[in-house]
Amino acid sequence: MKKEHILKNRTKFFILKVKKNVVLETYGNKKDTKIETGQKLEDIFNSKIYKKLQKAKQENKKTFIIKWKKRKYEIYFEKNTFYFYDITLYCQIQSKLEKSLKELRSKKEELQAVFDLAANGISILDRNGMFLYANKFFQNMMEYSMEELYSESCISLSSPEYSAPSQTAVEKAIQYGSIEKFKKICITKSGQRINASMSLSYLESRDEIVMITSDITDEIEYQDKLEKQIELEVSKRTKQYEIMCHQSRLAAMGEMIDSIAHQWRQPLNSLGIIVQSLRHISSQKNIDNTLLQEIESDIMNKINYMSQTIDDFSTFFRINKDKEQFDILISIEDAIRLILVQLNNHNIKIEIEKKDIMNFEIFGFSNEFRQVILNLIHNAMMQIVSKNIVDGKIKIEIKDINNNIQIDVIDNAEGVKKEDMPKIFDPYFSTKEKGSGIGLYMSKVIIENHMNGILRVKNIKDGAKFTIMLAKE
Ligand SMILES: Nc1ncnc2c1ncn2[C@@H]1O[C@H](COP(=O)(O)OP(=O)(O)OP(=O)(O)O)[C@@H](O)[C@H]1O
Ligand SMILES: [Mg+2]
Repeated sequence: MKKEHILKNRTKFFILKVKKNVVLETYGNKKDTKIETGQKLEDIFNSKIYKKLQKAKQENKKTFIIKWKKRKYEIYFEKNTFYFYDITLYCQIQSKLEKSLKELRSKKEELQAVFDLAANGISILDRNGMFLYANKFFQNMMEYSMEELYSESCISLSSPEYSAPSQTAVEKAIQYGSIEKFKKICITKSGQRINASMSLSYLESRDEIVMITSDITDEIEYQDKLEKQIELEVSKRTKQYEIMCHQSRLAAMGEMIDSIAHQWRQPLNSLGIIVQSLRHISSQKNIDNTLLQEIESDIMNKINYMSQTIDDFSTFFRINKDKEQFDILISIEDAIRLILVQLNNHNIKIEIEKKDIMNFEIFGFSNEFRQVILNLIHNAMMQIVSKNIVDGKIKIEIKDINNNIQIDVIDNAEGVKKEDMPKIFDPYFSTKEKGSGIGLYMSKVIIENHMNGILRVKNIKDGAKFTIMLAKE
């Protein structure tokens, strides 16, 4: 079969058989070309194309490219026949391909620039961890040139204790696709140790691993420094806190000694009077035995009372080591007992009011809790005295609120000054001439830090209300 016949129905082709530049026969894509037999070549094509056709005729079988009717053709001449091959689409694809290639090349350059400018080590490894590529940053960091790196692996650059983990990291990256922030120590060419954090990502299609390495030596040193600083700060704080506890106990002790002095004054006076009356009795001839017995029991009562005061004092300062179940009502009553004489001396009335509460048991430190109550009562008392309140009153209300115990210590001494409100729980804040200012601070620490409760203050119409909330557990 003739070549022309095969190509006859191919739309991308057309063929012109000519004799002295006149078309004898046409094959192929007649629809678009619209060339008739008998037409002259110079009438069909413009002079530029016509010239090219003549050139093709002279240089047998050599191909030329022409542009005709907005399409591109590859042409050649052989045995009185012009072959036109429509390459428009091909050219379009080729130009697109070239454009893509150019873009790709520029992307590659861009990527290379990113790699080289990156402030992280970026390297590409084969599946054994051997270096295939490393950016400038990595080369500088490890002090190796690229040529030198080709014979190294991420395992050989690790500190010996990290060789096995590095090997595992590579295997895991291949197995799971990636591994992040693997920390290890690398050794540079000059033997320097670098704390590094590595992220490995496996590129399955290339069977290669991208490794990003960050030098975290400074970070770790900073962290170490920070940790040491924190440790120092904590130990300083702990010491400070211990000092404060001590101071607070000393202050409380001062208050207690005051309280004892007050409680002993009266029985001591009575004992003095009794001793004097004994002298009078002893001078009498007939000593009345019943009277002596009465005097003896009177003396014993007073001595027992004084010894009880000392017992209260010593238990008050005993520190609870462990939390225990205790009855807060008893603790409150104990605290009141310690200060009652002073309250009486100042004509201050104190009362406990229980509201819808049957069970006063709580889990915590009973002595510390008692110290808080005593602090609050003592503060209220001092405030009543300093404000010269005539009918001084302190009321302690105990309520059960949603299974929490709420204790309100309420006084009628005009309340906390508005400007002092934000500061009264601060350590060393005091408006008193000889106040240490740690009473309320320690009370807050005890209730909120040691007993997981809440201690708040609020002014009410004629005084202050301190509220303690404790969970019953
Ligand atoms: N019930 C109260 N009414 C009004 N102000 C009060 C009351 N309780 C405390 N304050 C104020 O809070 C301040 C701090 O009390 P805090 O118990 O911490 O220290 P202080 O009583 O001044 O000294 P310290 O208790 O160490 O002897 C007091 O100086 C006082 O100004
Ligand atoms: Mg106080």
